[in-house]
Amino acid sequence: MLKPNFKEARKRTKEEIKVLRDEYKVPLEMKNIGKNKKYFIKTYGCQMNEHDSEVMSAILEDMNFSKALDYDDADLIILNTCAIRENAHNKTFGMLGRLKHLKQEKKDLLVGLAGCMSQEESVVDEILAKYKWMDFVFGTHNIHKLPEILNEHYKSNKLEVNVWSNEGNIVENLPVKRDSKYKAWVNIMYGCDKFCTYCIVPYTRGKQRSRMPEDIINEVKDLIKEGYKEVTLLGQNVNAYGKDFTNRDYKMENLLEDVAKTGIERLRFVTSHPWDFTDKMIDVIAKYDNICNYIHLPVQSGSSRILKLMGRRYTKGSYLELYNKIREKIPNCSITTDIIVGFPGESKEDFEETLDLVKKCKFDSAFTFIYSPRKGTPAAKMKDDISLKEKEERLYALNALINDYALETNKKLIGKIVKVLVEGVSEKDQNMLFGYTDTMKLTNVKADKKYIGKIIDVKITDAKTWSLDGEIDG
Ligand code: 5AD
Ligand code: SF4
Repeated sequence: MLKPNFKEARKRTKEEIKVLRDEYKVPLEMKNIGKNKKYFIKTYGCQMNEHDSEVMSAILEDMNFSKALDYDDADLIILNTCAIRENAHNKTFGMLGRLKHLKQEKKDLLVGLAGCMSQEESVVDEILAKYKWMDFVFGTHNIHKLPEILNEHYKSNKLEVNVWSNEGNIVENLPVKRDSKYKAWVNIMYGCDKFCTYCIVPYTRGKQRSRMPEDIINEVKDLIKEGYKEVTLLGQNVNAYGKDFTNRDYKMENLLEDVAKTGIERLRFVTSHPWDFTDKMIDVIAKYDNICNYIHLPVQSGSSRILKLMGRRYTKGSYLELYNKIREKIPNCSITTDIIVGFPGESKEDFEETLDLVKKCKFDSAFTFIYSPRKGTPAAKMKDDISLKEKEERLYALNALINDYALETNKKLIGKIVKVLVEGVSEKDQNMLFGYTDTMKLTNVKADKKYIGKIIDVKITDAKTWSLDGEIDG
C-alpha cells in the first residue's frame, strides 16, 4: 500500500525532472482483461481532470474495455475527483454511497477513486476506515500505472491503494481517447509552485514540471493532421511555463508563438496567473490571428490586503494595470476571472474593493466561489469569523454585478458577425446547433447540421447573460 503524505507533497526538491518515453506499458496478462466489459469514468473539477480522464479511457481501452454510457451499464467505474472545495468532496462521497449499493447488486463491479482527492491523506484514511469495499485508489502522479494497479487488485482481490506523494517524472507517449473530434486539450505543464494560501493544488498536483516544447508542438501537429480545429494548452499556471527548465531559456511567449506557427486554426490556453503575464505574451497574442482573443485571468479578490494574505503577489493596482494593458493591446479581447468571497478576515471594506474592481474591469464573465478551507493549507489555520450568511450575501451581490456586465457585453454583439466553431446539436433545441466564439461565448446557431465541426460566420440576433443566439451569415 502506498498512501499520500502532505508533508512530502509540499516538498520542492531540486531533483532534475526526467522525461520518460517508455514508461507506459500494459502487462501481457492485462491486455485482454477488459474483454466484454465496460468502463465508466465520472469526472469532477477542472479541464486538467477532464483530460486525465481521456488518458484513463485510452488506457482502459488498451486493456480491451469498452465505454459504458452510464454507471448501471458498467463493470468498472472510476471517480476522477476534485479537491478544490468542500462541495466537490461531498459530491464524491455521496456518489460512493450510491455505488456501494450498485456493487451489492452487481458483485463483480469494480469501483476506483482517482484524481486530486486521492492525493489527500485524510481522504485515503477515510476510504481505508469506511470504504473498504472499494477496489482501488490511485493518484494524479501515477495514471500511467493503472494497468499494474488493476493487476494487483485482480491478484489480491483487496482494496489496492497506490498513491505517490511526490510527482515523479514527466511521462510521455501516453494514449488518449479524446471526447471531441474538433477540440483537444494539450498538457504543457503539470503541478504548481505558487502555493496560494487557500489552494490545495500544489499538494495534489505536485511540483511544477514543464513538458518539452518539441513534444507539445509535435502533439499539436498530429492533432492538425487528425482534423482538429482547436487546441487548448493546459496547465495550472501556464504563464510560468518553462521557468523550471535548467538548460534552456524558453518561456510561455515562445511556446505560444511556436504553437501558433503550426497553423492550428484556434489556440487557447488556461489558466493564467497575473503575476507571470509578460508584455511579450500580450504582444504574441495580439500578433497571431489564430491565438484566440480570450484570456482567463483569475483575480481572486479586489482587496490588496486580502491578496497579500492569499499569497497572490500582486495588488489591486497592478492587476488593473495588467488588465488595462491587455484591453488596450488586444482589442475585442474577452477577459474572464475567478473570485473568492469570504476569505478569512475579509471585511466589508475588502469586499467593497472587490466590487469596485469588478466595476472597473467589467469582466465578460466570472466564476465566483465562497472560500472553502482546505486541510493542510496555510489559510485553513487563519481565523475565519465571517458567518456563512454574510458570505452568501456577498456572493449574491457579486454575482448580480457580474451578470449585469456579462449581459451588457453580450448585447453589444447583437448584429455583429462572429466566428463560431460548431460542436453539435443543442441539447435544449434539436433544431439548433451550438458552439463557441473565439472569445469563448457559447452561441446557439440556426444552421444546417452539415456545419458541425466547422468554423462559420454567425450573425448574432440575441444576447443573454450566459449565451448568444445567432444565424449563419451568408
Ligand atoms: N475555496 C474557494 N475557492 C477556491 N479556489 C481555489 N481554492 C479555493 C478554495 N479553497 C478557486 C479559485 C481558483 C479556482 C479554480 O477555484 O478561484 O482560481
Ligand atoms: Fe492554486 Fe494559486 Fe497554483 Fe492556481 S496559481 S493552482 S490558485 S496555488
